Amino acid sequence: MSGIRIVGTGSFVPETVVTNDDFSRIVETSDEWITTRTGIKRRHISVEEPTWMMGARAAKAALESAGAAPEDIDLLIATTVTADTYTPSMACLIGGELGITAQSMDVNGACTGFIYALDVAQKYLSCGMKRVLIVSAERLSKFTNFKDRSTCVLFGDGAGACVVERAEKPFASYLRCDGTGAKLLYAASGATENPFAEKPVTMGEEFSYEPVGAIYMNGQEVYKFAVKAMPEAVEQAAKAYGIGLEDIDLIIPHQANIRILQTAAKALGLPMERFAINIEEYGNISSACIPLCLDELTRAGKLAAGQTLCLVGFGAGLTYGAVIFER
Ligand code: ACO
Repeated sequence: MSGIRIVGTGSFVPETVVTNDDFSRIVETSDEWITTRTGIKRRHISVEEPTWMMGARAAKAALESAGAAPEDIDLLIATTVTADTYTPSMACLIGGELGITAQSMDVNGACTGFIYALDVAQKYLSCGMKRVLIVSAERLSKFTNFKDRSTCVLFGDGAGACVVERAEKPFASYLRCDGTGAKLLYAASGATENPFAEKPVTMGEEFSYEPVGAIYMNGQEVYKFAVKAMPEAVEQAAKAYGIGLEDIDLIIPHQANIRILQTAAKALGLPMERFAINIEEYGNISSACIPLCLDELTRAGKLAAGQTLCLVGFGAGLTYGAVIFER
C-alpha cells in the first residue's frame, strides 16, 4: 500500500485576539484558572471572516507553498463542524473561491476531522489519484455559549490546509468512533418553523441544550474519554505501522487541553518534547488544530525529511484516531 507526502501547507487565523483576562470580564473566571486547567492563554476570534473564507485563505497558502495550480487538484476535502451552510458543502465554497473544479466534499469528524480526511486522501491516492487538497476551517466562536464559563474559554477560530501527493512510503491509520458518546459533546442544528408539526422540530430530550446551535460539553466525561482514546490511537497506529512508540519522532496532537496531552504522554511513556504544542496561542480550533500546527512547524523549518510523524485527534462523536507516515 502506498503512503503520502505533504507537499505544501498553509494556515490562516483571524486578527482579533481574546485573552483569558478578556474572558474574566464577561464570565466568572480568571487567567489563573484557565491557564492551569487548560494551558490556553489566548485564542483568535473571527469577527469578519466566515468559516469558508478562513479555509480559502489557508488553502491558497497551501497551494502556493506546493507550487500547485487550482487545476492540479484532483480532490478537495474540507473538514469542519462550523460550516456556514447546511448545503452546499464548505468544500464547494472554497473550491469556487480558488477556481478548483475537481470533486469536492466535506468530512465531519469533529476534532478528528483532519485525521479522517488524511486517511480518505491516502485511500484515493493509493488508487492512482495524483493530488488532494485538504482544508480544515473552524469558526467555533459561532456556536460558543459565551455565558457558559466551562466551555466558552476553550475554543478559537482558524484554518489549516495541506496539499497531499502519493509517495512510495509506508502509511498507517487507526480510526474509531464511539457513537454512544454523541450526547456528551454536541451542537444541535436549528430548523425552520414547520406548519404541519405541532411542536418545534428538535433532536429529542437527550440533545436539548439551550440555546439551540450552541455547544454542549460534559467536560469531565470527555476528559476521561480523551485521556484513554489518545494513547490507544497512537499505540494502535504505531502497531499497524510496525514501529515502537520510541520510533515516533514527533506527535502532532489535537490541542484541546494541555492536561490531556500530559496525561496521554505519561500513559505512552513519552516525554512532552515529543509533542508539538501551540494550545497557548489558539485554544481548541477543532479540526483546524492539527493542520495549523503542521503549517507552523513546516514554516519554522522544524520538520526534517525522513522524520516519522504521528498525527492524533479526538473529539465529538466521539471520534478518535491517528495516522503515522514519514515526512
Ligand atoms: N473558570 C472558573 N471556574 C470554572 C470554569 C472557568 N472557566 N469552568 C468551570 N469552572 C468551575 C466549575 O464550575 C467547577 O466549580 P464547582 O466545583 O464549584 O462546581 C470547577 O470549576 C471544576 O469544574 P470541572 O468541570 O470539574 O473542571 P475540570 O477540571 O474538569 O476542567 C475542562 C474543565 C477544562 C472543560 C475539562 O473538563 C476538559 O478539558 N475536558 C475535555 C475537553 C475536551 O477535550 N474537548 C475535546 C473536544 S472539543 C470538540 O470536539 C469541539
